[in-house]
Amino acid sequence: MARNLSLVLLFLFVASSSAVQVAELDLICKKTQDPKFCFNLLNSRPGGTMGADLVDLAQYALDVTRANITITTKLIKRLIRRNPTNLEARDHYTICLNQIHKGAMGKVESTQEILKSGDYQDLNVVASGIRTHIDLCIDGESPIDTPYNDTSLLPAYANDISQAVEIIVIISNILYK
Ligand SMILES: *[C@@H]1O[C@H](CO)[C@@H](O)[C@H](O)[C@H]1NC(C)=O
Ligand SMILES: *[C@@H]1O[C@H](CO)[C@@H](O)[C@H](O)[C@H]1NC(C)=O
Repeated sequence: MARNLSLVLLFLFVASSSAVQVAELDLICKKTQDPKFCFNLLNSRPGGTMGADLVDLAQYALDVTRANITITTKLIKRLIRRNPTNLEARDHYTICLNQIHKGAMGKVESTQEILKSGDYQDLNVVASGIRTHIDLCIDGESPIDTPYNDTSLLPAYANDISQAVEIIVIISNILYK
């Protein structure tokens, strides 16, 4: 009986210590470029952040990243269709389609596998790679290019993706320690 009770207490201790505490949530979001975006995103998780552990939060940020990329891909395809004769615009959006639909989405799938396998060092590298694809879309693939002056919604959409990924990168640093 006493032994069973101590097992129950041990279980309660482990369960509560792995759940993310408010202070830790604060720590994560204050490291991001836009803490408000981070708090809003994590609090929009079904069931909130209470009782969730760091892996749950990284998983949710990854789900948001995937959904954001899907919406952004649709926008890019629309922008390509809308600019049939503007070669500069078409080039830019074609690069973005490649970087975001193929590059970034491909790394989202790798990130998903790594998150399941628990290799948190790799998680950092691959998740950071998602942001590189976003930067290559916005800034151009060649360092000597002048970034395309994109007045569409794409830069704001791309920024949403980058910010969701930033949360995964920060969590991966904590998990890896
Ligand atoms: C980008 O385009 C907008 C709208 O055409 C214009 O107002 C703005 O000055 C341009 N910015 C640069 C850096 O060329
Ligand atoms: C990305 O997802 C967040 C959270 O669901 C949402 O607030 C934001 O509008 C989305 N952005 C895009 C470009 O889909």
